[in-house]
Amino acid sequence: MKNSRILCSRSYSTKLQLPKCGVNPAVYKGLSLEEMVTIRKKNLNPTMTTYYRKPLAFHSASKQWLFDIDGNRYLDMFGGISTVSVGHCHSKITKALAEQSNILGHVSNVYFTEKIHEYAKRLADTMPGNLKCVYFVNSGSEANDLALLMARAHTGRYDVFSLKNCYHGMTYQVMEMTSLNTYKFSVPGSPGIYKTAVPDVYKGIWGGNKCRDSPVQADRKCSCMGVCEAGISYIEEFKSDLAHMVSKHNLAGFWAETIQGVGGIVQFPKNYIKGVYEVVKQHGGLFVADEVQAGFGRTGDHFWGFEMHGITPDIVTMAKGIGNGFPLAAVVTTPEIAQGLGKATYFNTFGGNPLACAVGMAVLDIIEEEKLQENAKTVGTKLLLDLAKLRDKYEIVGDVRGKGLMIGMELVDDKTSKKPLSSEKCVDIMEKCKSMGLVVGKGGLYGNVLRLSPPMCITQQDATFTVEVLDKALSEVN
Ligand SMILES: Cc1ncc(COP(=O)(O)O)c(C=O)c1O
Repeated sequence: MKNSRILCSRSYSTKLQLPKCGVNPAVYKGLSLEEMVTIRKKNLNPTMTTYYRKPLAFHSASKQWLFDIDGNRYLDMFGGISTVSVGHCHSKITKALAEQSNILGHVSNVYFTEKIHEYAKRLADTMPGNLKCVYFVNSGSEANDLALLMARAHTGRYDVFSLKNCYHGMTYQVMEMTSLNTYKFSVPGSPGIYKTAVPDVYKGIWGGNKCRDSPVQADRKCSCMGVCEAGISYIEEFKSDLAHMVSKHNLAGFWAETIQGVGGIVQFPKNYIKGVYEVVKQHGGLFVADEVQAGFGRTGDHFWGFEMHGITPDIVTMAKGIGNGFPLAAVVTTPEIAQGLGKATYFNTFGGNPLACAVGMAVLDIIEEEKLQENAKTVGTKLLLDLAKLRDKYEIVGDVRGKGLMIGMELVDDKTSKKPLSSEKCVDIMEKCKSMGLVVGKGGLYGNVLRLSPPMCITQQDATFTVEVLDKALSEVN
């Protein structure tokens, strides 16, 4: 059945007005939702996760706006899972892609092409210190998988640590690093991968109201004077895990997202990463920063999340925002560590593909030209502060946290128990948001953290609309 309904025809369940958009997408005339559901059941893996009780089928997009197949418009506050960094269908990217595809699409990196060189230099220029060697891949999982190989090849050691509650991807080895049982299959885990406590200052054993590098602190008393004691306690915990779990001289590396994304936007005490970095160095290991979500200016103050922790990692993995939705990812490291890959041949057919590199260059240009990092800071900070008012207003909002445009709102039964709000109620909130034209994401082990990681081009009006919609949705579910 072809669909030819009039654009923007939805009657919202509220009088809240979506901010103006100025885009008039073409009328959708493709497969109906029912046809897609049938094909999905039969010809796609039926286990694929979908949000919402009635799936949302998108037809087109522009900047921070999404249009479904019925022509309804939504403010995209999830950015294709923290991926659409500079805005949907940005004209500069479509132009770069079209131009490059008219010249040269693919030959593989066994040949020289201009774009991979031009882009590698450009990307390396955003990095501090000796982080100058780029290896391009296609996804965040692949980037972490390759980084694991690099860490082991360079150090000649095997054991690595990651944090509980982290997400680093889904290849077989990286799945073991990921520490959320939602993503665990009953298969033997890849050996040599250990976990230490996540320094979650809202729910963890230690934490207070001065720990986070965020405009909003956890609603929790803090007794430390000067140095963050929570950070020190979690570092001691890691030292103890290291001593108990890993044989001497066998630590190859430590992995951490600079702010945990899928785990529910968890921020660590300010001194934690720096302390862990030092311990890892003392033990001869490498520190790997996963910037798949926090990188490319999203956190506002810095281009890279590791900068807010005051360290220069040995290896940095990146994906998502790097390509604004194009399959592009990278591992950046020092020349010495990169050399380790020479012990055998590591090959990646599409890595550094001219099309991907053209997109990557355009993304860097846009972030700079449109001052999107600055926008992430200004709009994100105001949004965080306004969301904190909702935390003060509703018993079911336990915590609001994040930095720039990487924001989480943890939903709980009540502020004292911090028990996760039932998934039924969390889904209700997301459904209500959807009905008012707002797309948000979710995360955390129990799916009870609303996640906001929109294209970094959103405006103050969009942020205000987001708060109003969430306010209404929370009031109806509270
Ligand atoms: C921090 C982090 N690392 C790695 C990955 C894996 O990326 P991909 O899904 O592109 O393989 C993700 C995906 O959500 C992520 O959030």
